[in-house]
Amino acid sequence: MVSSSPTISFDEALAQATDGRGLDEHGIIALLDCGDADSERLFATADEVRRRFVGNDVHLRALIEFSNHCRKNCDYCGIRARNRNVSRYRLSPEEVVSTARQAADSGFGTVVLQSGEDAWFTRDRMACIIRAIKTSTGMAITLGVGERDEGTYRAWRDAGADRFLLRIETTDPDLFRRLHPDDDLDARKACLVALRDLGYQVGSGVMVGLPGQTLQTLARDVIWMRDFGVEMIGIGPFLPHPETPLAQALPGTINLTLRLVATLRLVFPYGHIPATTAMGSLLPGGRERALAVGANVLMPNMTPRAIRDDYALYPDKVGLDATSDDRIDDLHNRILALGRTIAKGPGHVARHCQGES
Ligand code: 5AD
Ligand code: SF4
Repeated sequence: MVSSSPTISFDEALAQATDGRGLDEHGIIALLDCGDADSERLFATADEVRRRFVGNDVHLRALIEFSNHCRKNCDYCGIRARNRNVSRYRLSPEEVVSTARQAADSGFGTVVLQSGEDAWFTRDRMACIIRAIKTSTGMAITLGVGERDEGTYRAWRDAGADRFLLRIETTDPDLFRRLHPDDDLDARKACLVALRDLGYQVGSGVMVGLPGQTLQTLARDVIWMRDFGVEMIGIGPFLPHPETPLAQALPGTINLTLRLVATLRLVFPYGHIPATTAMGSLLPGGRERALAVGANVLMPNMTPRAIRDDYALYPDKVGLDATSDDRIDDLHNRILALGRTIAKGPGHVARHCQGES
């Protein structure tokens, strides 16, 4: 990570964030670049903003990683198509639906269906899965399946999908091109626009510590996501996978990741910000720390245990296991011990709750 020296002080930046003016690029860089003592003030401010705008609730989303087949070759990703060491799996549509039902029975209000870019799950197959989950459980459905055409996104929305996660990864055109041999930044942005226009609640995000990324890159990413109107913001440290072209690169750091979480809370007071698996994998307790500095979402893993380790985007992935009620109880207790509460219901973002009591 190359540091760009901030042109305004930390105090000015914090004032910019909290007095209604809103953070600009310089302000964001100053917050991301701050030292340990200032970090504590940033974290306390973000925690207070989180409490005031989205309360103490932690939203739990049941994650099903239903296929690790992927047609793409993102340079950072362990399940890229050219990695021949991955043992590939695909849950059947029936298994996806039954796992989602199990999530509903365990009390989850949202299921997240995540996969590589797997063409086997065609528009119609996915639509059937979505419809079956919606009619039998009523849960909110989030998709994280990558780039598809607008007609496909529409069919899935019509079938009952509510939300879509598609990370922009970086908004720096050169960096994006270098990391994504199969992708185009403008095409990725067009997908996000299509999703937003179809009425999905849209989530995006970036990785922290990508080789060649600077604090200015991250600041511009944040501004792009704010201007776009992203409602869920998932970030995590980049973690080098040994079977990828970035095997030798350095990982992102927990400190910068936490400062970005806190900064995002100031920029998106109503946003849904997960404490991600990558944070927990980089550092034991990383997710809990994220919850203390602005995050308000956790995504426990319901993927059947026999195949879970094969969804290895990066090494040593430490998920929150939710395949038994005991493990879920345990998770609830850990959240309550942090002084937080467990959200009930589908947990839509604020604009979608207007009029609800
Ligand atoms: N380190 C950290 N995060 C990664 N992702 C993919 N590979 C890695 C990695 N090596 C993230 C990307 C992707 C999300 C599903 O996982 O941001 O969008
Ligand atoms: Fe495929 Fe997503 Fe990994 Fe890229 S990041 S290779 S699209 S699973």
